[in-house]
Amino acid sequence: VAGRALSTPDDTASQVRLRSRPRREDIAAVRELAAAAGVFSGAEQSVAAELVAERLERGIESGYLFTFADIGDRPVGYTAFGPIPMTADAYDLYWIVVAPEAQRAGLGRRLLEVTEAIVRRGGGRKLYVETSSRADYARTRRFYRRAGYSQAARLVDFYADGDDKLVYCKELPGEARGS
Ligand SMILES: CC(C)(COP(=O)(O)OP(=O)(O)OC[C@H]1O[C@@H](n2cnc3c(N)ncnc32)[C@H](O)[C@@H]1OP(=O)(O)O)[C@@H](O)C(=O)NCCC(=O)NCCS
Repeated sequence: VAGRALSTPDDTASQVRLRSRPRREDIAAVRELAAAAGVFSGAEQSVAAELVAERLERGIESGYLFTFADIGDRPVGYTAFGPIPMTADAYDLYWIVVAPEAQRAGLGRRLLEVTEAIVRRGGGRKLYVETSSRADYARTRRFYRRAGYSQAARLVDFYADGDDKLVYCKELPGEARGS
């Protein structure tokens, strides 16, 4: 399905509906979103789609949680995240993608805020996200910093020579009791 042109940021914000439960059509939709982002390799696009497939197959036991932002019957952005095994209260944000035509309208931030709220409700106190030091990820790094994430680690030449892995982390406050 071709992407609808979204005229203003306000249009995008008012049309969006958020949902957590993945559907079978999301497997293809997520692959398309990852491809359209322009920064993910074919292998990465496949992994993004596989997380949805695995969740549909194994349910919550898969450890993969999602937030989808739909306009009409089609997601224009999503996050995939989940608890990190063998940690007390750490979660990983595996993917965050917003369709190019829906970017810069606050949707990425909204998806991240909802994701953080779900993590907190599940007992998570730290949310980690990995990204690359490459120049084409500069806007992504800025996005995380603006959302309150700080760099926790750098693995030099991790992805390739000259392409470091950066680990960002945000500490999440505990849920207030009785609220
Ligand atoms: C990163 C991404 C999810 C941001 O989504 P978005 O909906 O465009 O982000 P928002 O509109 O909520 O922007 C929030 C802040 O991020 C920053 N930001 C987002 N896109 C930016 C861009 N293209 N250039 C500069 N800053 C940008 C801005 O500082 C913005 O804050 P501001 O409005 O106060 O200036 C989106 O650009 C994307 O899908 N990128 C490709 C995929 C990707 O890199 N995913 C992360 C993989 S690790």
